[in-house]
Formats: sequence, C-alpha cells, structure tokens
Amino acid sequence: MRIDRKRLESTIEELGRIGATERGGLTRLALTDEDRRGRDLLVGWMRQAGLRVTVDQMGNIFGERAGQPGRPPVMMGSHADSVPTGGKYDGQLGVLCALETIRTLNDHRVQTRHPVTVVVFTNEEGARFQPAMIASGVMAGKIPLEDAYNARDKDGLRLVDELERIGYLGPEPCVPRPLRAYLELHIEQGPYLEEEGLAVGVVEGIVAIAWSRLTIHGVQDHAGPTPMRIRHDALVAAAEVISGVRGIARQIGGELVTTVGSVTVSPNIPNAIPGRVTLSIDMRDPRDATLDKARWLLDGVVAEACRREGVTYELDHYWRVPYTPFDREVVSAVERAARATGAGHRRILSGAGHDAQYMAAIGPAGMVFVPSRGGRSHCEEEFTPMDDIEHGANTLLGAALELAGQP
Ligand code: GLV
Ligand code: MN
Ligand code: MN
Repeated sequence: MRIDRKRLESTIEELGRIGATERGGLTRLALTDEDRRGRDLLVGWMRQAGLRVTVDQMGNIFGERAGQPGRPPVMMGSHADSVPTGGKYDGQLGVLCALETIRTLNDHRVQTRHPVTVVVFTNEEGARFQPAMIASGVMAGKIPLEDAYNARDKDGLRLVDELERIGYLGPEPCVPRPLRAYLELHIEQGPYLEEEGLAVGVVEGIVAIAWSRLTIHGVQDHAGPTPMRIRHDALVAAAEVISGVRGIARQIGGELVTTVGSVTVSPNIPNAIPGRVTLSIDMRDPRDATLDKARWLLDGVVAEACRREGVTYELDHYWRVPYTPFDREVVSAVERAARATGAGHRRILSGAGHDAQYMAAIGPAGMVFVPSRGGRSHCEEEFTPMDDIEHGANTLLGAALELAGQP
C-alpha cells in the first residue's frame, strides 16, 4: 500500500495558495482570515474523507476515522499556521500527509483496530500569539486555558476573541485524551538529511526550549539638545544585550543556540532617544542543565548592560519546554516504516519545537522528518522535493498502520 503522490502534491499546492506570497512563500498567521480559509478547506477535505470532525476550546480540529469502539486513536497531524513570509511546508505538510494517509486507508478499505485521527493544532508558530505550541500546551495541561485565551497579538487582540471571530471556538474540552500514539511528519528545518542524501529522519526527541521577554526602561528625550553624558538610552542597553546573548552561545559552545528575533523600540523615530525597548530571547539545547546555565548567564548579561546605561528592566522567563525524548516503541515503528519504504534514513534530533513535544506528555509520540533544501525554513525559500515527501508520507502511513493495528 502506497500513498497517492499526485493527490498529495495537489493538496500541498491548493492549501499553499491560501496566504501565498509573491516569492513562493506563505503568510498565514494564526486565527487570521487566511487561517480560517485554510481551516475551512481542510475541514471540507476531512468530511469528504468520511471523518467525524470536531473542534475543541482552543480551535484544534480533529477528524476521526473510526476503529473498534472504545479504543484510543492513533493521532497524526501538525499545524496550519505559518510565520510571516514563511514557507508552505512547515506545519501544513504534516497535516496533509496525515490526510493523505487516511485517504489511502480509505482507498484500500483498510480497517484498523484503533481509530486514526487527523489533528490540526492552533497557533503552533508563536508568531502571532506567544508562546509557540500554545494549543497543544493547553491540551497537555502545561499552559492554563485562561492564559492562552488572554494571549494578545501585537495589536492587542486576544486569542479567544480571534478564535471566536473566525468561527473556530469549539465546544470540545481541550484536555489530555486517551492516545494510542501521536505521529507528526514535519520538515527537518536543518541541513543534515539533505547533506547526507537521506529522505527520512526518524526523530528521537526535541531539544529543550526557553523563551524570555526583556523590557528595558530608559529615559525618552530629544536626540539633539540632550548631551551624551546624561542619556539613559534603552536601545543602547538592548544592543549590548543582543551581542551578550550571542556571547552566551559562544561561551558555552556545544549545541546551544541563542537568538534575539524580535525588537520593539519606542517611540522609534529618528530624533528621540529610545525610552523603551522590548526584545525576545530564544535559547535551545538538548540538555536542560545547559539551558539552566545559559539562563543564569543571561540574567548577568542583562543586569550588567542595564547597569552600565543606567536603565531599569523587567526580565520575564515566561516559557520553558524540557528536552523531550520520544517513545521508544513509536520511534521503532517509524524506523521500521522508513526502512520498508526503501528510503535512506537515519535517527535525528529536532532543534525546532513541535506540537509533538507537548503530545509526548499525553501519550506515546514520535515524528517523521523530511529534508529541507539548504536547511532553510521560516522563510519563503523553504522547499522539500516531492520524492522525499513521498518517502516521508509512506513512512507515516506505515507507522500509523502498525500502531493502529488491524483486526
Ligand atoms: C516553532 O516553530 C519553534 O521551534 O519555535
Ligand atoms: Mn512547524
Ligand atoms: Mn515553524
């Protein structure tokens, strides 16, 4: 049994048109009108495939293909939101390969012991509402529903209001549910599979992730008449923090990565000394202890930069996900399925966060990676060849079938 490559390719193209950018990428931020149109298309496809579609309180969409009564499902999916000027593979590929898996089971009239369910998670990217993976986080009981509902985008709009506005504030409780297994296919977003000429990554786990938010309060003043000696410039302190954050990765070395990806300057005009700056700090490492050390160093970097400039600050370490190893049985099933497709494959660790990271707290979870051209993602150049996608989708199909079992 094999997936239908042409059919899968056409869904990637069709869904990829919703929010498409001129340079071949995708901007489909969570809970925008584009997100709604993408969701509507997916729900239509799920219904056509005969799935029972439900939506939970976080707008997560589930499409269930029945198994034997009373058995927990094998759930497969990912997210359909993107980052701004992102690509059409991150997230949506996992949802579409899950749908293609189910369509293939339908084509061959395969019955499974466990139900097989497609899931589309809300706001995985954390681009519009922070933190990332917010909806699987609520489902796993790691983020309070109330906090998620009150998350605000940069215009002050609340997540719950936007969920309601696009018609995806569902009635199902967003709580842990019995799971046979969770499987997520995703692009690698790193260079290793392509460099080694392999089509499939058998993901063993996901690195620990820590997000912090720093707000620096300087003194807003005129850029002309204010002598240098009496300035308290929030942006100058921020600049020191940015190079200090890079310095933490240099100092600790190994696999630690550190990023300042967002800076908001106020009032952000040429002729005023910046009075307030907010910036984001993202740090990741496979070892939780390394991340603890990095966070401790960050506290020092911020304190020292702000002391030198005579500014005050608030540093909020607001999100942390520990290193997450995947379930041995699921990893083995993915590996067996990859081998059976004949694709070149190897075990690999994920440097990006995925909903699978929270799902692993609910039940046995695992992931399938396919290569990213040039290792690039979260950009319009994101691309994965169809040959690799086909191997990845067949791996997902094989693993799902093994885990769901046949009567
Ligand atoms: C999600 O894309 C993340 O790894 O931040
Ligand atoms: Mn993703
Ligand atoms: Mn992403």
